[in-house]
Amino acid sequence: MNPLVLLSSILLVTSTLASPLSGDTRASCTLSGSSLGSLSSIKSSCTKITIQDLTVPAGKTLDLTGLKSGTTVTFKGTTTFGYKEWAGPLISVSGSKITIDGASGNKIDGKGSQYWDGKGGNGGKTKPKFFKAGKLNHSVIKNINIYNTPVHVFSINNCENITVQNVLIDDSKGDSGGGHNTDGFDVSDSTQVVIKNSKVYSQDDCLAINSVNDLRFENNYCKGGHGISIGSVGGRSNNVVKKVVVKNCEVVNNDNGIRIKTVYDKTGSVSDITFQDITLTNINKYGITIRGDYTNSGHKGTATSGVPIKGLTIKNVKGTVKSSATRIFVLVKGASNWKWSGVSISGGKKSSSCSGIPSGSGASC
Ligand SMILES: *[C@@H]1O[C@H](CO)[C@@H](O)[C@H](O)[C@H]1NC(C)=O
Ligand SMILES: *[C@@H]1O[C@H](CO)[C@@H](O)[C@H](O)[C@H]1NC(C)=O
Repeated sequence: MNPLVLLSSILLVTSTLASPLSGDTRASCTLSGSSLGSLSSIKSSCTKITIQDLTVPAGKTLDLTGLKSGTTVTFKGTTTFGYKEWAGPLISVSGSKITIDGASGNKIDGKGSQYWDGKGGNGGKTKPKFFKAGKLNHSVIKNINIYNTPVHVFSINNCENITVQNVLIDDSKGDSGGGHNTDGFDVSDSTQVVIKNSKVYSQDDCLAINSVNDLRFENNYCKGGHGISIGSVGGRSNNVVKKVVVKNCEVVNNDNGIRIKTVYDKTGSVSDITFQDITLTNINKYGITIRGDYTNSGHKGTATSGVPIKGLTIKNVKGTVKSSATRIFVLVKGASNWKWSGVSISGGKKSSSCSGIPSGSGASC
């Protein structure tokens, strides 16, 4: 037996013996080495779990679902994953009142370069998704440093009241290495989500919201991807995006700065949205883009009103786009109650074909 596995077994046994009462919240356990063999007993007996220098076997999920209420999981050292082409996820967490934490210097390395083939989720190698937070409630994910994910990073689905803070997602090696669809945060079917003080270096959306009620995205830095995005909205089981605040963020070298895209000919709604105090730097395609003509096979060129954008405040959004880029593009139908002020984007081109901007909103292309 590898000494780390032996050590973790001793720790598990020790803590279990030391606290025989079921429901004891002091029990602490360490999972280490290259086997997940003891994970289910750790989950049922410990509320302080340390993941230390773990290598998750190929084709397996580090399954942190069904944790006891109040559990803290701390990542220490370097966590890596064996190579296999499969859908993942590599890490999955569910439960209530959970804290996922990272000790100083922690690294969770998805070894993405082995998968990156420029095709992301659309072909080539089957790539495992990275971190699923599903049915995770009243919980915090903080201080973890994620590197080199094969494809999408966080999937936040069916969660209620979760905060993600001080998280680093660094897929920057994928910029020249064939990384694709490495979305930082994908959010759907959730309520009360806060993502703050985090950094995302990726090749796709920094944040992509398909459906949510009450999300704040604050003090974040996004580099290299497709921007901060609401959408696409429409055509899924939940098509409501409501009460979103994106504030005090920096978007650098992304294809888009801020974006809303709703699906052509589908229904749903996008309402009560604020983008405020955002700095854009060197944006490739669009500084701000809001359009209601999205389809999986590209843009239709005409918007439909089935997913109206109601209540859109854009305030103090400043910065630069590349000379080949368009500063602002809007193509929507049925939009209402927009308030734009302090939007100042330089470089690039002014669009001459915006349409659907509510009158008196202060918005213009
Ligand atoms: C978390 O909340 C979701 C949505 O409200 C619910 O479906 C799920 O069962 C809850 N999970 C736990 C572990 O309480
Ligand atoms: C949200 O979760 C936190 C724990 O992260 C908890 O302290 C707080 O009471 C929860 N808020 C609500 C409204 O449930």
